[in-house]
Amino acid sequence: MDISRRKFVALGAASAAQAAVSQTKAPAMLHSMVDVPYERKDPRVAFIGVGGRGTSLLKNVLAAEGKVVAICDMDEDHAKRAQKMITDAGQSSPELYTHGDHDYERMVQRDDVDLVLVATPWTWHAPMAIAAMEHGKHVCIEVPGVRTLEECWQIVHVSEKTRRHCMMLENCCYGYNETLVLRMAQAGRFGDLLWGEGAYLHDLREELFGNKGEGLWRRKEHTLRNGNLYPTHGLGPVANYMEINRGDSFSHLVSMSTIERGFSEYRKEHVPVGDPKWQERYKEGDFNISLIKTSMGRTITVKHDTSNPMVYSRVNTIAGTKGLFMDYPPRIYFDGQRGGEKWESLDGFKEFEHPLWTRMGEIGKKLGGHGGMDFIMLYRLLERFRNGQAPDMDVYDAALWSSVGPLSITSVAAGSAPQKFPDFLRGGGKDRKPSSVGA
Ligand SMILES: NC(=O)c1ccc[n+]([C@@H]2O[C@H](COP(=O)([O-])OP(=O)(O)OC[C@H]3O[C@@H](n4cnc5c(N)ncnc54)[C@H](O)[C@@H]3O)[C@@H](O)[C@H]2O)c1
Repeated sequence: MDISRRKFVALGAASAAQAAVSQTKAPAMLHSMVDVPYERKDPRVAFIGVGGRGTSLLKNVLAAEGKVVAICDMDEDHAKRAQKMITDAGQSSPELYTHGDHDYERMVQRDDVDLVLVATPWTWHAPMAIAAMEHGKHVCIEVPGVRTLEECWQIVHVSEKTRRHCMMLENCCYGYNETLVLRMAQAGRFGDLLWGEGAYLHDLREELFGNKGEGLWRRKEHTLRNGNLYPTHGLGPVANYMEINRGDSFSHLVSMSTIERGFSEYRKEHVPVGDPKWQERYKEGDFNISLIKTSMGRTITVKHDTSNPMVYSRVNTIAGTKGLFMDYPPRIYFDGQRGGEKWESLDGFKEFEHPLWTRMGEIGKKLGGHGGMDFIMLYRLLERFRNGQAPDMDVYDAALWSSVGPLSITSVAAGSAPQKFPDFLRGGGKDRKPSSVGA
């Protein structure tokens, strides 16, 4: 063996060893939750957390004529506000659960609830989802899903054990552009897919330094961890384009963070000296970039920055052997396109518009909710429940997309060493049908 080849083999062995570090032991598959249908009924819905996001979800669930029977929020004013929205919509007054941060445990014991929506701070998603499933309820959790690899395996295990679904409410998968581009990808318009990019670039400084809403808990996450804290908005749609968990899968990632500056500078300019926020030390680097390799040899870049001046973007890019789409602003290019090597708008591709957007898009846009995608997602969720179909996205998607958070943190801490993804499907992802989001 020549020296360069020997060196290459040695390097390969080293990175394989490093990649193995993050692999947590997989529990045995109990019963796969792939394509398990909801029991065909109009689900009775309960909410845990009706702050900023939960209130917006509630508005859209009510617009989709979802029946809401119970509300849990330890902030009584928030719970009462939600209660009024429900009675204003002409429904019976829901029972409220407002007695402290574990009152949800009482609510999930009700026997008149089919589906629980969780929109609380991140540390609560896993325990609340698990409690709901253990008491026989299907559950949906807000993004970014769960925070640790152990929690990823827990939701998978409990979902399989209880035969209850745990779906992550990744609304960006239901955006107008995302659903249209997914349908183009599924029709083979981009050829063989090669690379994609997703991001969460959003200046949240004012909100996270506020004394209400996310300011009360989300800034703390920046004092605890350093990696991609919010990967799924950018990643979910790209994973759907590439049929991840449905043929392809994530193999491993490497991740890097910059130094921290944004929060410290913001605090210097906006927070009075003596405020308890001056005790905080921000661990999270301002910008994180993680690079995922898929088992079929594709790559996905996922970026995160919420600490600096920024024009909002999820990047949302997909490229293949026949062309590519890039968002923000939306633009598309195909091999051999008329007019040469120039971007075109999406306007010429209306034939790929998602039927749900054609049917319900105007209502969604009127309601607001991220340009209408929140309504499309929730309408779709209720529709699939009512029809007795499986949810578009299941616990395996929730676990895999969430796992980018903890794996990026481990990689950053290990000098960007490769981290291998667990196979949450334990081999069961290869022969699955394409993502139903596009259908
Ligand atoms: N998908 C999206 O576009 C999107 C947008 C915003 C927020 N989110 C996600 O939604 C979740 C909630 O964020 P938010 O902006 O609404 O935060 P928020 O602080 O405005 O609301 C959280 C609510 O949860 C309640 N709560 C906290 N702990 C509780 C407990 N133990 N029991 C009962 N209630 C409890 C709080 O009182 C509050 O009303 C987060 O996971 C966030 O990442 C998603």
